[in-house]
Amino acid sequence: MTGTIDELVASLTLDEKVALLTGRDFWNTVPLEGIGLRSLLLSDGPIGVRGETWDDRDPSLCLPSLTSLASSWSRDLAGRFGAVLAGEARRKGVDVVLGPTINLHRTPYGGRHFECMSEDPLLTGTLASAYVDGIQARGVGSTPKHYVANDFETDRFTVDVVVGERPLRELYLRPFEDVVRAGAWSVMSSYNSINGVTSSENDLLDVPLRTEWGFDGVVISDWTAVRSLHSAEKEQDLVMPGPDGPWGQELVEAVLSGEIPEDTIDRKVRRILLLAARVGGLESVGEAPATPAATDGKVFAREVAIAGSVLVKNNGILPLAPKRTVALIGHNATMARVLGGGSATVIPEHVVSALEGLVAAVGEDRVEHALGAIVESGIADLPIDNLTNPVTDIPGVRVTFQDATGEPIHTEDRRLTSLTYFGGSAPVGDSATISLHTRYRADSAGTIELAYGGIYPAMLSVDGAEFLRYAPEMGEGLDVEGLLVPPVHSGKLAVTAGQVLELELCLQPLKGLGALGDALFFKFGTKPDTANADRLIEEAVAAASRSDVAVVVVGTNAEIESEGVDRTTLALPGLQDDLVRAVVAANPNTVVVVNSGAPVTLPWRDEVPAVLFVYFPGQEFGHALADVLYGKAEPGGRLPTTWPASEDVHPIGRPIPIDGEVRYDEGLHVGYRGWLRSGAEPAYWFGHGLGYTTWSLDSMTLPDEVVAGGSFAVGVRLTNTGERTGKQVVQLYGDRPDSSVDRPARWLIGFSEVELAPGETADIEIEVSSRELAHFEDGWQFEPGTFGIAAGFSVVDTPATGTIELVP
Ligand code: BGC
Repeated sequence: MTGTIDELVASLTLDEKVALLTGRDFWNTVPLEGIGLRSLLLSDGPIGVRGETWDDRDPSLCLPSLTSLASSWSRDLAGRFGAVLAGEARRKGVDVVLGPTINLHRTPYGGRHFECMSEDPLLTGTLASAYVDGIQARGVGSTPKHYVANDFETDRFTVDVVVGERPLRELYLRPFEDVVRAGAWSVMSSYNSINGVTSSENDLLDVPLRTEWGFDGVVISDWTAVRSLHSAEKEQDLVMPGPDGPWGQELVEAVLSGEIPEDTIDRKVRRILLLAARVGGLESVGEAPATPAATDGKVFAREVAIAGSVLVKNNGILPLAPKRTVALIGHNATMARVLGGGSATVIPEHVVSALEGLVAAVGEDRVEHALGAIVESGIADLPIDNLTNPVTDIPGVRVTFQDATGEPIHTEDRRLTSLTYFGGSAPVGDSATISLHTRYRADSAGTIELAYGGIYPAMLSVDGAEFLRYAPEMGEGLDVEGLLVPPVHSGKLAVTAGQVLELELCLQPLKGLGALGDALFFKFGTKPDTANADRLIEEAVAAASRSDVAVVVVGTNAEIESEGVDRTTLALPGLQDDLVRAVVAANPNTVVVVNSGAPVTLPWRDEVPAVLFVYFPGQEFGHALADVLYGKAEPGGRLPTTWPASEDVHPIGRPIPIDGEVRYDEGLHVGYRGWLRSGAEPAYWFGHGLGYTTWSLDSMTLPDEVVAGGSFAVGVRLTNTGERTGKQVVQLYGDRPDSSVDRPARWLIGFSEVELAPGETADIEIEVSSRELAHFEDGWQFEPGTFGIAAGFSVVDTPATGTIELVP
């Protein structure tokens, strides 16, 4: 049937309507052929598009994490980021991308810090709006998440965030307000409660989302975040995943009995049909989505990684002269963390390591690598180059799914030894056993520790003999956290150089678990060998001593920064701090590259001449790093978040629930706002970052007054006083020392990125809405009087200041 959305809704039976409100499976919505509605495919997000399966045979472009994107402070880049994702989405048949993640960096201990943009709501909201627009302009949906106050992971399914109205409105809801006003077609409700009510039932889905901001899109639940029938009465629209869930038949009955009005159901259905129409999934309504422009994803990933690299310290050692010999040191120099763990994972075809990037830039003769310290703490996949698939004889593993009689019902040839099945067509639920079979060749003589991490009963055999067995109690470890951080079982094995081992891991999927029974997630590989820590540092020192320059890539690992767990420390794992100190003592020309998705402590930072943060830089890391180190490109980033100097001094610290609650008692004083109030000195302030040229900001002009509800233009004169073209981010901050209400010492009210040639001067104008000066108390209030305005290059480096009167 064809017709308007209202006509289509009217043509549906109650059963059909209710069916539409719960997913068909893990990632798809329910189709209704009768009205020309196909199912919509939803997919994570936010730095690539994984598609329906976690499968190395169908790789995804892996862009830098959102903290890196946010470091660019570039609306243009964020818009193109969205556009590139739209292209990936269309290539993979995806209709709606589950991102961007726009919770705030309330504390660096938050496990998904890497996935979010900034501690500042304006920076987050502005870039997220450009990202959403970039995706949706090409006919693919974007789902900003997670609404709201989902800023840490501990007890994430049950925790209640107790937060005041002002911080909620002025900080945590603000990025959502921006993306909704920018036209987001869907929003994801979160797992946590806000002030006593779980998100999917919370009135915040109505006020301000629907009422004040006019959101006409779909509220998609976080996966399993809808817990009750009652939530159907609220503004929650779509339950994911399906097909099970708390609505279904019970909801049909609740409508038939008059407990829930059918109108409420119709509203939800209308929104889902509107989303379908917007992405081209409803035949009779909407236009065919625009075809995304073709972009070279690798080139773009490199551009973002460069723009998101933040040079926080440089005594002049960078850029490096290409002729100098480099000792490239660090575990992360060959095994970089290019993305964070959990649902943000995509599987790139290839990751360019720092070693590969530097060798490509200056040649093999000039780069020597030393491991230096072990960083990996979990299970590392067996390296593909050491594996042979026993059936195809090419690098990889053979995975066989068998039924209860032992008959193979499905096979796959894969390149990874840790596998994830969430959705997709592999018959996990129908299999009695799943086995992974490979031939592993040991590079050198020594001891390896083979390890299995999973909640499923499993047996590992080596050369046909049982080597490890895991037989858990029924239901042990059986929850989503168990899936994300599974128990690990391992055993040590002596090997000779070149020895080939026949490895077979056979595991039994769990039964009777509904949707979870079709999912399977396990890790198989080796545990790191930490026995020779001192020797590794000695080798690194020797390499540094015989080279002109040392570049140490330090960082975190897959276990530390992941969805599902908060960090317990900000210290670098392993002996990396000792390593840096030893290397810089051996060679003072040492550059430290920090590869983490969130702040880590850098106790040696005063001792080294240059420090570069690359965050989680995406698949083209090595090439981007070489571009920046050798000055082919300028590191374009400015910090989107203040970096603490030590573990003990942080205005907020660890998010540890007490009696099921995390209280956001700091109110408005989050991030640099909190640092400024506390008077403590961080390592590096919000907004800070260096390039390869120098700047002066000479004057600022602004009008005498702004009328409440209006806007004003701030003009600054900026000169590139150095010798090469460069980028600067001009930042504007507001303050109100004599305010009658609590306010941060200063807060970001506008920014603009500018590129200037050497010696060039430009007059830049930044438009600021008076809303940036308002506070929330029974609606947005404009406190008349004098506001300070400061312009500069970080929250504490503001050479130009002035004042403006806010008049009613
Ligand atoms: C995450 C979401 C994600 C969803 C689907 C959840 O556990 O919190 O961010 O989109 O899973 O993978």
